[in-house]
Amino acid sequence: MYQSKIAGLGKYLPERIVTNKDLEQVMDTSDEWIQERTGIRERRYAEKHKETTTSMATQASLQAIERAGIDKEEVDFIIFATLSPDYYFPGCGVLLQRELGITRTEVGALDIRNQCSGFLYALSIADQYIKSGMYKNILVVGSEMHSMGLDFSTRGRGVTVIFGDGAGAAVVQRSEVNGQGILSSRLHSDGTYAEKLSFIAPGSHGGYHNDKLDQPIDYGFDTDSPYGEIFITQKMLDEGLHYPHMEGQFVFKLAVTKFPEVINEVLEDAGLQTSDIDMLIPHQANLRIASFVQKRLGLSEDQVFNNIQKYGNTTAASVPIAFCEAWEAGKIKAGDLVCLAAFGSGFTWGAALLRF
Ligand code: UT7
Repeated sequence: MYQSKIAGLGKYLPERIVTNKDLEQVMDTSDEWIQERTGIRERRYAEKHKETTTSMATQASLQAIERAGIDKEEVDFIIFATLSPDYYFPGCGVLLQRELGITRTEVGALDIRNQCSGFLYALSIADQYIKSGMYKNILVVGSEMHSMGLDFSTRGRGVTVIFGDGAGAAVVQRSEVNGQGILSSRLHSDGTYAEKLSFIAPGSHGGYHNDKLDQPIDYGFDTDSPYGEIFITQKMLDEGLHYPHMEGQFVFKLAVTKFPEVINEVLEDAGLQTSDIDMLIPHQANLRIASFVQKRLGLSEDQVFNNIQKYGNTTAASVPIAFCEAWEAGKIKAGDLVCLAAFGSGFTWGAALLRF
């Protein structure tokens, strides 16, 4: 049986640093509020009209490929997780293939839409393809460019101050060393509260939200027309539905329950305990969530890696960026037991346990 090991990690953070003080200039917020409620001091924003979700992913991928010691043409499959794609379609997977200059058409490109847990979903798929023997080298990427789609007025402050841009990548590779690589991965979803953390315009729902099908919302669509029409109306734009929406406290309460649950599941699968974890890399949603999870699991501060202070929440990119940065800082070494975990919109959540 083949194992899936992490052969190389890469990350890309745009140069532009945006501090909490910078955001104070455009909306009613404060450095004190942001740091106290989230732990975030600053975040990165990509260069407008130049960098894209795909271009950042390309930089992270090139680094991961080089560190894996393979040629880009040896990549068999690309899995790209993002909620901020360059286009509505096609997805970023093929755009990344093109930007990397991978010419082999035997390469498949898959796009993942699982928001904050996107990288965990992508990793789990890669693991199955490697273990089945189908592929040898899979490029797994999470990249986000939030800064082009945030509400920078006070109306959006509950969400806008949290998000940042960046990309992380991993080359997941076939290994025949027993006990190496991904030991267990678990994925979960519960669509009951899908709209509580969502971005609903543009979309094809036409006012019919799945949680309220008997009460369609009048967004100003031309309901008399027998044909379809544009995905977005002026009313939706006026109401800011083209920006992310989050019921923060609701999400927070679920997150602090689901993180420990799913981490315990992967540990149990592998017959291991929390004390065996060398490094937990939680999705960087909120420093208070990470701290709660750390205490709940009885982990020491040294067993949990956080970098939300510098980068904010980069959704699908947050786990691979933190994973890469922890490794670069020498906090993860060969043979270490690493746990990755995420929770986010959907809701979807998951964890992976791996022997590095
Ligand atoms: O990554 C995917 C998963 N996401 C998460 O897990 C995020 C989970 N949720 C959270 O991290 C937190 O709920 C937030 C950081 C989003 C918000 O923190 P909170 O402590 O839950 O604040 P809140 O939304 O309950 O708002 C408290 C107050 C409100 O004012 P009033 O109504 O008490 O007067 C907000 O209007 O804070 C106000 N507020 C702000 N004030 C200054 C909200 N955002 C801001 C802001 N600056 N940026």
